[in-house]
Amino acid sequence: MQLNLAFIGFGTVGQGFCEILLEKEESLRQLGLEYKITAISDIAKGTIQNEQGLNLEAVLKTVKETGRIEETPGAKPGWNSLETITKSNSDIIVEVSYTDLKTAEPALSHFKVALENKKHLITTNKGPCALAFNELSALAKSQGVEFRYEGTVMSGTPIITLAQTSISYGNIKEIKGILNGTTNFILTEMEKGKSYQAALKQAQALGYAEAIPDADVLGWDTLAKIMILSNVLFKYPLKVSDIPRQGITDVSLEDIKKAREKGSKIKLIGRIKRERQKIQAEVLCERIPLTHPLASVEGALNAITFKTEYLGDVTIVGPGAGRKETGFALLSDLCQIYQRLSQGRKK
Ligand SMILES: NC(=O)c1ccc[n+]([C@@H]2O[C@H](COP(=O)([O-])OP(=O)(O)OC[C@H]3O[C@@H](n4cnc5c(N)ncnc54)[C@H](OP(=O)(O)O)[C@@H]3O)[C@@H](O)[C@H]2O)c1
Repeated sequence: MQLNLAFIGFGTVGQGFCEILLEKEESLRQLGLEYKITAISDIAKGTIQNEQGLNLEAVLKTVKETGRIEETPGAKPGWNSLETITKSNSDIIVEVSYTDLKTAEPALSHFKVALENKKHLITTNKGPCALAFNELSALAKSQGVEFRYEGTVMSGTPIITLAQTSISYGNIKEIKGILNGTTNFILTEMEKGKSYQAALKQAQALGYAEAIPDADVLGWDTLAKIMILSNVLFKYPLKVSDIPRQGITDVSLEDIKKAREKGSKIKLIGRIKRERQKIQAEVLCERIPLTHPLASVEGALNAITFKTEYLGDVTIVGPGAGRKETGFALLSDLCQIYQRLSQGRKK
């Protein structure tokens, strides 16, 4: 089966996914999946298309050398993002543009137009999955297309798929996780004695933290992931105002020392609890006992503990960000869509 892909946004994650597609081209072909990239639209890097398929190696080389994509050999001028969705001969839209946690735009419009035009959608963009999940899921269902978002929580670590399949049958009572690598990196460095400012500076130098780090250090990114997990696991659309939120900016070296003396570590935790039919969520700095698996999650790693009826606590640890790590989430979404479509064909 051949699937045509169009990209909205072509930054770190979009390019990382394309590198994986090239590396895995032969194994995907052996599975029966052939792909073509027929259009790319990026507000900063340009827009290109070719209905026969763009030369992916050439696109990656051009963007690496020039920072733009328009001079890619064999590429024709493309369209803006909404036109790319409606005019390209794509089966799947790969939405990897900018995340906005206040309005979810412009990604929300990209998502809606993709689904309204009966295109499958794969994404790592948190905004629409946090703020408009039910509406988007219903739209995808009514249009008979797939909507997949594995990379929105813990990048390629398959938390979403796990939450939607096996573990979801085990009556999950609570989930609690370290869902933001930047803040976990800063807290880990503070454990070693660095000040908050020095640890933040190091995180910025390593590319973990943005120049304006508010989304991470004030807890907004963790909050968005908690909203997504509540949508996926509990089918409960939390509002931003439902979730008390704390960041890490007030954590001092003294707090960390005191926690250590009490046999614990301070972690930025996102939590959702289900009691009877009530859902409670929060983002807070919590003292985690050294004996708990979350206490040993260091650096930019992420982790999540599911409290389940039959298994007790199940903790998954893995990357929460990164070019290839998040690109892999899109590969996993693509392969799951391919499997669904090929099963449909066999029926
Ligand atoms: N990087 C990670 O590890 C990671 C992990 C999980 C999830 N995510 C999410 O995945 C998405 C992509 O992340 P990234 O790291 O690849 O970001 P990025 O490097 O900033 O790339 C995004 C690209 O999309 C472009 N863009 C912005 N608005 C657009 C629009 N309306 N139409 C077309 N293109 C647009 C951006 O241009 P400008 O530069 O001009 O804005 C940029 O070139 C984000 O939503 C991010 O939150 C990233």
